[in-house]
Amino acid sequence: MADIRLDKFLADAGAGTRSTVKLIVKKGRVTVNDVTVEKSDIKVNPEKDIICLDGKKLTYNEFEYFMLNKPQGVISATKDDKEKTVVELITENKRRDLFPVGRLDKDTEGLLIITNDGKLANRLLAPGKHVDKTYFAIIAGEVTEDTVLRFAEGIDIGDDKPTAPSKLRIIYDDMSYTTDIAYDSIDYDDDIASNDIVKSKVEITITEGRYHQIKRMFEAVGMRVIYLKRLSMGSLSLDNSLKPGEYRRLTDDEIELLIGKF
Ligand code: URA
Repeated sequence: MADIRLDKFLADAGAGTRSTVKLIVKKGRVTVNDVTVEKSDIKVNPEKDIICLDGKKLTYNEFEYFMLNKPQGVISATKDDKEKTVVELITENKRRDLFPVGRLDKDTEGLLIITNDGKLANRLLAPGKHVDKTYFAIIAGEVTEDTVLRFAEGIDIGDDKPTAPSKLRIIYDDMSYTTDIAYDSIDYDDDIASNDIVKSKVEITITEGRYHQIKRMFEAVGMRVIYLKRLSMGSLSLDNSLKPGEYRRLTDDEIELLIGKF
């Protein structure tokens, strides 16, 4: 790993903002290899140097990876004047360079990777990579085998070209016990469950990431998405134990699987 400035190291390690860490250093609270330092613009090597704040060794990861179960009502952005953002939900070891990998609509729930690894994000989002994204959805309308065929062919949603083929699977109520996903444990609004309109539960896998893609695909066949939750992205599946709004770090195996794919 290349040398970096001490203030960047401290800020990225969660010691404070770039300006507050300058003060911390000035106060003599930071040591590099057991020597108290006074300047925060010196270069350090995160792998070789031992850097302590108030005598406690700081650990530095060049890249951070979190799996968030995005709740409804939060926007997929880093900062916003009015709305709460997904990055604000990551409260631990807050680095300033975290961002969400792609976007889910404000009313969509589910798997969102939050990282500072731009390369990984580009690879997962690059149109040419065709990374599978699988969603659970509740649809106002009756999804039939004909809809499944139409989605497999590609749908004209008003863009220059139709969507790439997508896999649509109708979920019947007795299927929860025959799949990996406990669909009956997905916690959606009672209003969705109880009103009179005909509804279908589906699982849909798309390989693109067009704006409001799934909603527009169903609109194009005369139906409406009333609940949408992302279950997986590439090799990474949402951890079922995370409630909406909760997150955890990716395990080394999960990171390896995501990165190793490319
Ligand atoms: N498709 C949509 O319509 N919305 C999302 O949030 C994700 C995929």
